[in-house]
Amino acid sequence: MSRGARPASAGSANALELRGVSRLFGALAALSDITLSVQPGERRAVLGSNGAGKTTLFNCITGDFAPSSGIIRFFGEDVTAFPPYERIRRGLRRTYQISSLFAGLPVLDNVYLACRGVSRNRYSLLRPRRDDALVHAAEGLIDAVHLTAVKDQLVGELAYGQQRQLEIALALSGAPRFILFDEPAAGLSPTERRDLVHILTGLPAHIGYIIIEHDMDVALRVVESVTMMHNGRIFKEGRPDEIEADPEVQDLYLGGGHG
Ligand SMILES: Nc1ncnc2c1ncn2[C@@H]1O[C@H](COP(=O)(O)OP(=O)(O)OP(=O)(O)O)[C@@H](O)[C@H]1O
Ligand SMILES: [Mg+2]
Repeated sequence: MSRGARPASAGSANALELRGVSRLFGALAALSDITLSVQPGERRAVLGSNGAGKTTLFNCITGDFAPSSGIIRFFGEDVTAFPPYERIRRGLRRTYQISSLFAGLPVLDNVYLACRGVSRNRYSLLRPRRDDALVHAAEGLIDAVHLTAVKDQLVGELAYGQQRQLEIALALSGAPRFILFDEPAAGLSPTERRDLVHILTGLPAHIGYIIIEHDMDVALRVVESVTMMHNGRIFKEGRPDEIEADPEVQDLYLGGGHG
């Protein structure tokens, strides 16, 4: 390679870069040769029908599953072999398709514990009282997801949509640089969906994300780029308006009576 021809990741690194990522489950290729670049602060939707490989893509990015082949870089660093907590430490977060909250604790405690979990003192045994700075941070995140009015309520008593908002607050704990949202609008009412759009578009500009979302009204409003997946492969990328107008996309996905 000549001195001038540096790889794209060498100067200003992409937030996320996948090169030839595949994942097999037995004979099934859930992901085939995925190559994808996302810039710092970029917001992207990954769309595709059920079983397209979207959640598997997230699992490979987070380290929950190892890819069968390929390379994953996070802000220029090869994290392919890193366990999930090493990726979290570097500022990667996710939300799950299925809720994972402490239902018996108040909202504030859930977020406080998440903030403490990613803070440097998390292994300290000498922790007689609450860390006020972390309480303050937790309250800020609760405000960012519009839950201040219910911060002292038990999570199990919240409406479903509020629980999903709380999950976003957890993903925001500890200065994330990049978040993976897996179907955050699933099961939400129209009002809750509008609230979700406000929450996502109101996130600090330096936080990039990928959102998997079947609701196009939500997905296309909160991103600047779209990746379409089908049968474990990427088959199209573009801006939201390009994707919406694309006949092939409409055939395969938008008009497909998708559940
Ligand atoms: N742990 C697993 N073991 C075996 N097969 C799996 C596993 N996880 C996913 N798969 C299969 O891989 C394919 C992709 O699944 P994945 O969950 O990534 O799809 P998805 O695009 O997220 O779909 P949905 O929109 O329904 O959430 C599917 O055929 C699925 O059955
Ligand atoms: Mg999925």
